[in-house]
Amino acid sequence: MAKILILNGPNLSRLGAREPDVYGDTNYSDLVGTLTSLGVNLGVETDIRQSNDEAEMISWIQEAFDQKLDVVLNPAAFTHYSYALRDACAMLTKSGQRLIEVHISNPHAREEFRHNSVISGVATGVIAGLGIDSYRLALTQLAS
Ligand code: DQA
Repeated sequence: MAKILILNGPNLSRLGAREPDVYGDTNYSDLVGTLTSLGVNLGVETDIRQSNDEAEMISWIQEAFDQKLDVVLNPAAFTHYSYALRDACAMLTKSGQRLIEVHISNPHAREEFRHNSVISGVATGVIAGLGIDSYRLALTQLAS
């Protein structure tokens, strides 16, 4: 069974409590449950993680590279400034593995600093602004 890594950056562990007007009221454990069930229905194994630590996120992308896994990535605020995470993602996608960047909100409709993603240019695709459905669509695509 194919395994797909679903990685979440800083502050996403506080979903539901964090700015619900922007990110909705689904909490992180509900997100994990929803994506785990969807994976079962799609016939893929999901490995869902969250970290506030840039180094840990980079290590997880390296792990995906080594194990030839596709990735759903919500880089959270790292989206906007982490060249090191971008380099790790480029290593993955340039070797033919797929990485879909997802966002719960639509960063383009928010503050100016969120309009630029340093990740998008090396992602296979980007899905933003659809709430938790951004993840569902990405996982469904990678499972196909
Ligand atoms: C986010 C958007 C980012 O700008 C923000 O820093 C996040 C969450 C989203 O899912 O909408 O933490 O990636």
